Amino acid sequence: MRKMFATLLALALAALGSSATSAAEDPPTRPPTVLVTGANRGIGLEFTRQYVESGWKVIATARDPTNATELQQLAFQHANLVVEKLDLADNAAIATLAQKYRGQPIDVLLNNAGYLGEPDKQSLGKTFDYPMFEQIMRVNAYAPLVMSQAFLDNVLAGDQKKIIALTSGIGSVTLAARFGGLVFYRMSKASLDLGMRALQADVRSRGIKVGLLVPGEVETQMLRDSGYSGRGKPPDEAARALIRVIDGLNDQDAKLLSLDGTIVPF
Ligand SMILES: NC(=O)c1ccc[n+]([C@@H]2O[C@H](COP(=O)([O-])OP(=O)(O)OC[C@H]3O[C@@H](n4cnc5c(N)ncnc54)[C@H](OP(=O)(O)O)[C@@H]3O)[C@@H](O)[C@H]2O)c1
Repeated sequence: MRKMFATLLALALAALGSSATSAAEDPPTRPPTVLVTGANRGIGLEFTRQYVESGWKVIATARDPTNATELQQLAFQHANLVVEKLDLADNAAIATLAQKYRGQPIDVLLNNAGYLGEPDKQSLGKTFDYPMFEQIMRVNAYAPLVMSQAFLDNVLAGDQKKIIALTSGIGSVTLAARFGGLVFYRMSKASLDLGMRALQADVRSRGIKVGLLVPGEVETQMLRDSGYSGRGKPPDEAARALIRVIDGLNDQDAKLLSLDGTIVPF
């Protein structure tokens, strides 16, 4: 009996020893990390859900986390999801968040948040609202650049090194003259596209890939606010297709890529 016990103990110790050795030889791999802005609803919430369920670490930012019920529920269920408060119109808040994550790799910086504004305040024949123009430009065009700068070292430290922005086909300069309306929003996305393409030139030599994604019409609050609701695809479907495009992103010039990866003219 004593002999059998000693044999079992020896076997257990040997197993422990061998697992300690292999752990020393193969350090645990780090799950990839994505930072998603505007994660409390719409496509951003779906990006968050799908990345979290795939085992990524997700830093999900929202202007008002206390009222982001679905996002909070998701965070309650998944330890790999962290929710952070962030208003993209607040440069100091962006700097503070970047400071908090200093030294931590971020594989994908996903500039998803966007602001449409009120259609009637950005159309010829109606009103042009300057404060709204400023807010649209700030959130859609300026904030992704500030975020890219603030988190550049994090992206450089990541394995995938991707900076992504959600843009819109109605911001395409080539297609612009075909229809009117939503002028501020469309100007902001055209500015975003140019800014991100210029950024690509700045960071290409450092191995960063920049992606401009065109989701098409997606049934979110934004589409409802635009007046075109009823013909968009569900947000989960859009996010799934966009994640595939992000996965396959190469280091070519930042082009406007639709859900199936085809190029939308800039
Ligand atoms: N849905 C479409 O058909 C469509 C088409 C083309 C492109 N897009 C683009 O896809 C992206 C996601 O849009 P969506 O359809 O999911 O829109 P959405 O449902 O309206 O969500 C927009 C998100 O952006 C956030 N946001 C707005 N202003 C912000 C600020 N100052 N600071 C931080 N977050 C802010 C919102 O937060 P709050 O809840 O706090 O406002 C919300 O989380 C946007 O960039 C949009 O332009 C959408």
